[in-house]
Amino acid sequence: MLEDKFGRRFHYLRLSITDVCNFKCNYCLPDGYACDTERNFLALPEIETLVNGFAELGTSKIRITGGEPSLRKDLPEIIKACSTATGIQHVAMTSNGYKLESDIHKWVDAGLNSLNISIDSLDPRMFSAITGHDKLETILCGIDKAIALGVKVKINAVLMKQYNEQELQNFLAWLKITPVTLRLIELMQTGDNKTFFEENHVSGTPIRQQLIDNGWGQLIRDKAAGPAQEFFHADYKGKIGLIMPYGKDFCATCNRLRISATGKLHLCLFADQGLDIRPTLQSADSNELQTTLKTLLGDKEATHWLQDGFTGGTKHLAMLGG
Ligand code: 5AD
Ligand code: SF4
Repeated sequence: MLEDKFGRRFHYLRLSITDVCNFKCNYCLPDGYACDTERNFLALPEIETLVNGFAELGTSKIRITGGEPSLRKDLPEIIKACSTATGIQHVAMTSNGYKLESDIHKWVDAGLNSLNISIDSLDPRMFSAITGHDKLETILCGIDKAIALGVKVKINAVLMKQYNEQELQNFLAWLKITPVTLRLIELMQTGDNKTFFEENHVSGTPIRQQLIDNGWGQLIRDKAAGPAQEFFHADYKGKIGLIMPYGKDFCATCNRLRISATGKLHLCLFADQGLDIRPTLQSADSNELQTTLKTLLGDKEATHWLQDGFTGGTKHLAMLGG
């Protein structure tokens, strides 16, 4: 099992397969994707070596992220490489939902178990103002399809003072009748969004109190479940998760490692730089890969230092998929 010097265990891999994105979320890529990095993304055989190596070291869950992963034509093959690797029990994906309605069948056939879709507003005009795409309706249809196919669906909404602070009631009305988990995510500062962050960061703490005051109970989650606090309510089909990266002890439950689309290991979302493991993937040498991973993990730090305004090498989250 991969374990660091603080006793944290890493059974969860977040694998970015492209940093290209077609959306222009205001907190992430307000000017759209700029092709300023190499576009030599990991190929399917390299992904197979990677996934098998991690699985042999005890990884049981993989999340495919981007950029926008569905922009890769070989996405079903990548999902399949993950879902068929011995030891991998759960394959998840984070997507902006752009191709959800048309492609969900292929993803499920390939072995996808769960999906996180970003919806920062349930008002079509606001959704379009935030993302640059008038796609809310088809994304909501896609979500219904995914649920009907047995996929577990979570919705990511980034809290932003000037855009969606007044929308909690809309989301709650939707959760009454929709069996999804809504994850309210505190905006994080990245290298590119300093001013936007200062103008828009909203703390999740008062929302947490509001939920408790309105009869929402906190679920006791498994130690390995990661950093979201989850809440349920008997009158609602959906659940709510709060992700508060500026909260105390957020990093104590860290259970994940990240691989960038070009094969760099990121020990933290906000690490200074990625550590290149691509040579071991290209030589398809699983033993060498496993030795390299164990050695590199020795440098994982206790926390992200975000609370001190430190954002590492992360310009925006399209680089690594959140
Ligand atoms: N702060 C918080 N969440 C973010 N995401 C992207 N950028 C940020 C940020 N700066 C979210 C997206 C998506 C997930 C991958 O990360 O909304 O749901
Ligand atoms: Fe694309 Fe996700 Fe960034 Fe939005 S948050 S621009 S969907 S990578």
